[in-house]
Amino acid sequence: PTFTPRSNARAEFVVVANRLPVDLERTADGTQRWTQSPGGLVSALEPFLRSRKGAWVGWPGVPDVEVDEFSDDGLVLHPVALTSDEVRDYYEGFSNATLWPLYHDVVARPVFDRGWWESYVRVNRRFAEASAAVAGPGATVWVQDYQLQLVPTMLRELRPDLRIGFFLHIPFPPVELFMQLPWRAEIVRGLIGADLVGFHRPGGAQNFLWLARQLIGLEPSRGSVGVRSRPGMVQVGDRTVRVGAFPISIDAAGLDSLSRSKPVQERARQVRRELGDPKTVLLGVDRLDYTKGIDLRLAAFHELLQEGRVKPEDVTFVQLATPSRERVEHYQQMRSEIEQMVGRINGEFSRVGHPAVHYLHQSVNRSELAAFFSAADVMVVTPLRDGMNLVCKEYVACRHDLGGALVLSEFAGAAAELSSAFLVNPHDLDGVKNALEQAITLDPAEGRRRMRALRRQVLTHDVDRWARSFLEALGTEAAA
Ligand code: ADP
Ligand code: F6P
Repeated sequence: PTFTPRSNARAEFVVVANRLPVDLERTADGTQRWTQSPGGLVSALEPFLRSRKGAWVGWPGVPDVEVDEFSDDGLVLHPVALTSDEVRDYYEGFSNATLWPLYHDVVARPVFDRGWWESYVRVNRRFAEASAAVAGPGATVWVQDYQLQLVPTMLRELRPDLRIGFFLHIPFPPVELFMQLPWRAEIVRGLIGADLVGFHRPGGAQNFLWLARQLIGLEPSRGSVGVRSRPGMVQVGDRTVRVGAFPISIDAAGLDSLSRSKPVQERARQVRRELGDPKTVLLGVDRLDYTKGIDLRLAAFHELLQEGRVKPEDVTFVQLATPSRERVEHYQQMRSEIEQMVGRINGEFSRVGHPAVHYLHQSVNRSELAAFFSAADVMVVTPLRDGMNLVCKEYVACRHDLGGALVLSEFAGAAAELSSAFLVNPHDLDGVKNALEQAITLDPAEGRRRMRALRRQVLTHDVDRWARSFLEALGTEAAA
C-alpha cells in the first residue's frame, strides 16, 4: 500500500521519538508551559536537529491532550496524542516495565502482558502514520529508541519512498535474555524495515544480526561489526539493511564553553561555599532510575564513613536525581529505598547545617548543572547497565581546568571510550569503595593526566560526529 503525504508535507529530515524535545506542563493555576524533556536522547538530538531545521514527531508528555503542530526556533514539532490508557499500557507498561528491564540485563523482573503489547502495536502504528504524513517525498526519517521498534516496518509499508534509520539509545540485550520476550520475532521484524539499524556498541549489532537469522530466517553477513565501520548487512527482499555501532555523545564544545563562562565559574565557587567548603565534593547526576546504581554508590559512601576511611567533615556527597516514570512500581520502590538510605546516612553522620548527603529530587538547568560539574571533585557514575551514559561525558567536557576525577561503571557503554576513568564493577561494593577512596586521595598530577586523556576522547567524539557517522552510513544528504 502507498500513503499520500499531506499536501503541505515538506520536511526533508524527520526525527521520530516517543517524546518531543519539550514537555507540556500544566501549572497549579491552570496555565500551561513547555519545559525541556528529561533524558539523554533529547540532550543529544535537539542541538543537532535545530541546526538542520528538521521536523520532530513525538508525544507532548501528558495524556489526553491534542496539540496542533507548532514551530519552535526553526524546528517544527508534530505532537502525537496518547490517551491515559495508552500512557499506562504502551509507555509505563510495555516500554518501561517490559522492554526497559529486559534490555537492561533483567536488573528488575520484566512483566509480560498481552494487553500492553496490543497497546504498543497500536501506538507504534499511530507514530508511523504521523511520520508518513509529515515527511516530504524521498525524505529521511530517523526513528529513535525502544518505544518505537515497530515503526520502521510500519512506516516502510506506508511510504516505500522514504529512507529510514533506526537508533536504539539503550543496550540491546544478550540474545539469551531477548529470547524471553513473547513478541521477539515481531520486534526484529519491526526493526528490519529500516535501511540502517544502529546500536551504541558492536555487541548489540552482533546480537541483532544473530536474531535476524534465528527468528526470521534471514542470512546476515558474518564478519565482525566495527565502531562506526564495517556494518553488518542483511538482504531483505530487494533491500540491503545495514546494522552498525555508533556510540552517542554530547555537544562537547558547547558545554566546554558554557563551563568556562564567568557566571558558571562564579556559581561553582558559590556551590562549594554553600556546601560549607568541604575538602572533597562527590557528585551523582541521574534520572532516578533503578538501573543507575544510585543505591550502590550511597551504600559505598556509607561504609566508607562507617569505617572512618572518609570523614564527614571533609567529604560531602551531592546527588541530583531527576524525577522519572513515577507511576511505575519499580521506580517508586527505588525512590523510597534511596530516600531511606539518605535519611540513614544523614542521621548517623550529619552535623547541624552540614548534611553528609545533599539529595535533590529535582531537575536543574544546563548552567546550574555545568556549575555542579565544575564544583565536583569526584563524579560518581555507577549504573548496573547503561546504553551509553551521557552524564560522565558532560562532566569531562566541563573540566577544562583538568581538575576532578571520574568513577565510572564498566557496564556503561561509555566505559569502552573512557578508559582513563576509575572503572568499577558496580556489583563489587569493595571495588567501588576502593575506587572512591583512590579518586578522593588522587595525586593532582595523576588526576590531570587522566582528565587530559578523557577530554581528548570526549572533545573529538561529539554528538555531531555521532549523528554524521550514522547519517553517512544511512546514505543521506542530511549528513552534510
Ligand atoms: P538517560 O538517557 O538514561 O537519562 P543519560 O546519562 O544518557 O541517561 O542522559 C541523562 C541526561 O539528563 C543528561 O544530559 C543529564 O545532564 C541530564 N540530567 C540527568 N539528571 C539531571 C538533573 N537532575 N538535572 C538536570 N539534568 C539532568
Ligand atoms: O534512552 C533513554 C530514554 O528512555 C529516552 O528514550 C528517553 O527520552 C529518556 O530516557 C527519558 O525517559 P522518559 O522519556 O521515559 O522520561
